[in-house]
Amino acid sequence: MKTRITQMLNIEYPIIQAGMSWASSSAALPIAVSNAGGLGMIAAGPMYEQDFRKVLQAVRAGTDKPFAVNIPLYRPGAQAFLDMAYEFRVPVIFASQGGPKAHLARFREIGTRWVHVVSTLEHAGKAAAAGVDALAVVGAEAGGHPPANEVSSLVIVRKAARILRCRSWAAAVSPTAMALPLCLHWVQMPCNWGPAF
Ligand SMILES: Cc1cc2nc3c(=O)[nH]c(=O)nc-3n(C[C@H](O)[C@H](O)[C@H](O)COP(=O)(O)O)c2cc1C
Repeated sequence: MKTRITQMLNIEYPIIQAGMSWASSSAALPIAVSNAGGLGMIAAGPMYEQDFRKVLQAVRAGTDKPFAVNIPLYRPGAQAFLDMAYEFRVPVIFASQGGPKAHLARFREIGTRWVHVVSTLEHAGKAAAAGVDALAVVGAEAGGHPPANEVSSLVIVRKAARILRCRSWAAAVSPTAMALPLCLHWVQMPCNWGPAF
């Protein structure tokens, strides 16, 4: 299945295994998802640096397909995790909770795609202006730390896509499992799923 996001991230299906602290802070799930043609993701949020290195090594050994790491930029030591992602030439970074601007040039040099996780139109606009490759727009029904407002992913992602239409990025939506056909066929957005995996 070819879409803008499959071409951008070099994956077979527009299905992304969302970064989930603890649940995907290890190698097995990301390896399985990437090998199946989606995008597997390591969640660095709760990890120690030495464990992150071991998991990166295991994922590199377990798949030759693209995979992602999720790094919350606010966390203490985020820079060390970014440095390791750079060292391992991680194909895709999903970053959240912090500005992307200071980091983009370095990762662009090595071909890493930068997807920024946002939950408001204001942050979507800022991240797009900074030049990220794609946005993961998260609405109220998403697991983890959804926004405090009650706006559904399917509303905010469409609105963000309309407002920023002219830019060359794609948006990912975080739907409940129920919304899969809607996302793939009606609004033609890739899915960034958590517990459905
Ligand atoms: C247990 C759990 C942990 C999560 N941890 C993170 C995290 O560390 N970083 C992050 O950006 N999102 C995190 N999320 C949010 C997911 O990346 C994703 O946006 C969300 O789960 C997708 O919606 P869904 O749960 O309806 O599939 C977490 C979600 C869950 C369920």
